[in-house]
Amino acid sequence: MSQPLRLAVAGLGTVGAATFKLLDRQAELLADLCGRRLVVTAVSARDRQRNRGIDLSAVRWFQDASEMAVDPETDVVVELIGGADGIARSVCERAIAAGKDVVTANKALLAEHGDALFGQAEAAGARLAFEAAVAGGIPIVKGLREGLAANRIEAVFGILNGTCNYILSEMRTTDREFVEVLSEAQRLGFAEADPSTDIDGLDAAHKLAILAALAFNGLVDFPSIHVEGIRHISTMDIHYADELGYRIKLLGLAHVTPFGTELRVSPCLVPKGSPIAAVEGVYNAVVARGDSLGAVMMVGRGAGAGPTASAVVADLIDIARGFRVSPLGAPLHGLPHLEVVPLERRTGEYYLRLMVVDRPGVI
Ligand code: HSE
Repeated sequence: MSQPLRLAVAGLGTVGAATFKLLDRQAELLADLCGRRLVVTAVSARDRQRNRGIDLSAVRWFQDASEMAVDPETDVVVELIGGADGIARSVCERAIAAGKDVVTANKALLAEHGDALFGQAEAAGARLAFEAAVAGGIPIVKGLREGLAANRIEAVFGILNGTCNYILSEMRTTDREFVEVLSEAQRLGFAEADPSTDIDGLDAAHKLAILAALAFNGLVDFPSIHVEGIRHISTMDIHYADELGYRIKLLGLAHVTPFGTELRVSPCLVPKGSPIAAVEGVYNAVVARGDSLGAVMMVGRGAGAGPTASAVVADLIDIARGFRVSPLGAPLHGLPHLEVVPLERRTGEYYLRLMVVDRPGVI
């Protein structure tokens, strides 16, 4: 058996602890699959004393994750801290600069600084792997980059935020308004105390930026994505949509048009009989349409400890096996920035609800 792959995990929150446990539970299976062991040798987190249900006695502890990122006794740095800037960014940059492979679940970081990080990784010959950054456990990054590599992708879209899908599903099935369902979701732990990143569409937009870059082999300027959330959806809209034969879903959509690429996150009407309309609750779904395959849809859990850890460990298995690929599939050098069509130029169907005084001539 080859030398063990030595892993340093930065961040031991829900996903970090679940990754640690999964690596431990599946140690034999992973060694058989990879021909070498995957061993966590170092960790860094805010609070050393917190009980996470994992045994850290055989693992080196670093108070400073950036220092751990350049540790010479580490092969791969697993960044599970989160956030577009600050410590997470510095951990990834320093690890790559030190010639280490990096696995991250950080969608905000890649959506907002992906170009620079991907370029840095490619120049250093390091792997920067991020399956867990989009749609949690659904293997859509590999799906687009490897499985659909022979296709020209025409569109990729889907339910990219479980919190919003849960809220919209509950509003429809229990006939309750947004604010009430959101509070309940917060009580049940399906929504954050500050839910704005989810309900205003930013989280879905981060994932969409990464999907579009993979699907269309181009770089995405994050601010060019049109982003709307679900705060303004009422049960009245859900009833009207139902009467018209639709369900309302928050979708992230990227597709090629004759004028450029359309990139948006917005609530959409989807026909009731369509497969994506049936995806309810916290589930995510991603549809990709390729010129050779046609459409394919993947459905699964887009968040949570187990699903996200599953995706992180899948990336680690790739690295242990020696599989190497540019972060976006195509070599970055010379990749164009996607020409994004402003929403004002979009032609298509819209749902409009007008609240007006009921008197002749008002429309
Ligand atoms: N908050 C996200 C969601 C999970 O609700 O889908 C991680 O991106």
